[in-house]
Amino acid sequence: MNNDQLQDQVDSIRQTFGYIREFRGATFVIKIDSSLIQNEDSFPVLLRDIVLLHTAGIQIILVPGAKQRIDQILSHFNISCATVGGRRISTPEAIPFVKMAAFDVSNRLMTLLAENKENAVIGNWVRARSLGVSQGIDYQCTGTIDKIDGPALQNVLEDEVIPIIPNIGWSLSGHPYNISSNELAYEISCAVKSEKLFFLTDAPPISSSTYKLLPDMETDEAGRISSLSTDQIEPFISLNTHKGVYDTNMELLTYASRASKKGVKRVHLIHGCDDGVLLQEIFSNRGAGTMIHRDLHENIRPAQHTDIADILRITAPLIKEGILLHRSYEDIQNALSEYYVYEIDKTLHGCGALRKYSDGSYEIYSVAVDKSYASLGTGKQLLSYLTARAEAQRAPRVFLLTTQTIDWFLNLGFTEAHLADLPAEKAASYNHGRSSRILIKELSAPRQRR
Ligand SMILES: CC(C)(COP(=O)(O)OP(=O)(O)OC[C@H]1O[C@@H](n2cnc3c(N)ncnc32)[C@H](O)[C@@H]1OP(=O)(O)O)[C@@H](O)C(=O)NCCC(=O)NCCS
Repeated sequence: MNNDQLQDQVDSIRQTFGYIREFRGATFVIKIDSSLIQNEDSFPVLLRDIVLLHTAGIQIILVPGAKQRIDQILSHFNISCATVGGRRISTPEAIPFVKMAAFDVSNRLMTLLAENKENAVIGNWVRARSLGVSQGIDYQCTGTIDKIDGPALQNVLEDEVIPIIPNIGWSLSGHPYNISSNELAYEISCAVKSEKLFFLTDAPPISSSTYKLLPDMETDEAGRISSLSTDQIEPFISLNTHKGVYDTNMELLTYASRASKKGVKRVHLIHGCDDGVLLQEIFSNRGAGTMIHRDLHENIRPAQHTDIADILRITAPLIKEGILLHRSYEDIQNALSEYYVYEIDKTLHGCGALRKYSDGSYEIYSVAVDKSYASLGTGKQLLSYLTARAEAQRAPRVFLLTTQTIDWFLNLGFTEAHLADLPAEKAASYNHGRSSRILIKELSAPRQRR
């Protein structure tokens, strides 16, 4: 192994430890398609990786899909059921076999977990109700989720036991219903406020070879869309939905969007169960599937003319204290396209600006937060947004000049630099009387934490 390879390995171990520390005590809900569970070769390897996550202190909830197993059992007993929009209409004749298949798949998980010396329990924390008759279609014994017993599930997790939840729910009167395991995983994820929700699926990857892309979507070398923000999902689904054609990925993206809006931080769609996919998706910045995330910078937008008065209101006391350089109404107006503001409920909490230089680097300046909203993370979000914008433009670095906020920037990954490190035109206009400290952050190609 040469020095570069060794360094890469060390970097990846550091990255993994960072993630482990971040996720210890967090809950991950993992839905796994039954076709993956039934794969004798690859599934035991995937399950061992799930056990590794549990050993690292992550609480795991497993939701096995049963579609393929139900198909096999129903076909064995010559029972056929219609499907509507990807949903099977389970008849009273079929439901005992549906139950059998659901628990069969859950038992397979239980057996493999026992072989890995993990405690697991198959349980019924789900109350279901009939889907009834909708648009003239009688859904018979196909149900939907009425309620999840979140506190009971939490108790199981606290005992370090892995709950396995089959896709059968009982109504208050004791009727069993076949429920969608995708919906089940989504509802459980919201009920336990999980950090992550995974859909391990046998559907094709979300890539440019299968789907039409939105103009602002980026893909990796293989054409895979490695991340989507919630605001991209709706237009992406509209672009790729064809009347009367059911597509699993579109269904999963709909649940992902809903889960994100209800506070699940990350939803991951992982296609297939190749060796290490789950660990790669969790522990590497690039991942192996498609990650759906909320826009972390949703409160930040480009400044408009009407914001100038508020920008002056926020910066004026800091200029008076000598913390920020004086900038008049006219200065801000002339450079308005460089300014961004942080706004909540039509109130500006902070601002920041970004200027491009001839060597491709960007200066971050005028980062300021209204004192009434200090220490709420606004400054950090503004800084990460401005840095991400520069990074998206493939800037090699961002720099800034500061007199009294050095530690704050050092803490956020900036390092001290010298006049010679500045672009020539900035170095030429450096105010030696002010003696500001120069801080720099080197940037790499755009990446996203998973
Ligand atoms: C620096 C500034 C933007 C931070 O905004 P914020 O929204 O309060 O920041 P965050 O919530 O992201 O971070 C708050 C943390 O930073 C710390 N912090 C704030 N100012 C700091 C400083 N000058 N030096 C070191 N740490 C500082 C706070 O103590 C707080 O620590 P805590 O989380 O342990 O309580 C804000 O204090 C400000 O407007 N400062 C004056 C303007 C300025 O210096 N701009 C930078 C030059 S461009």
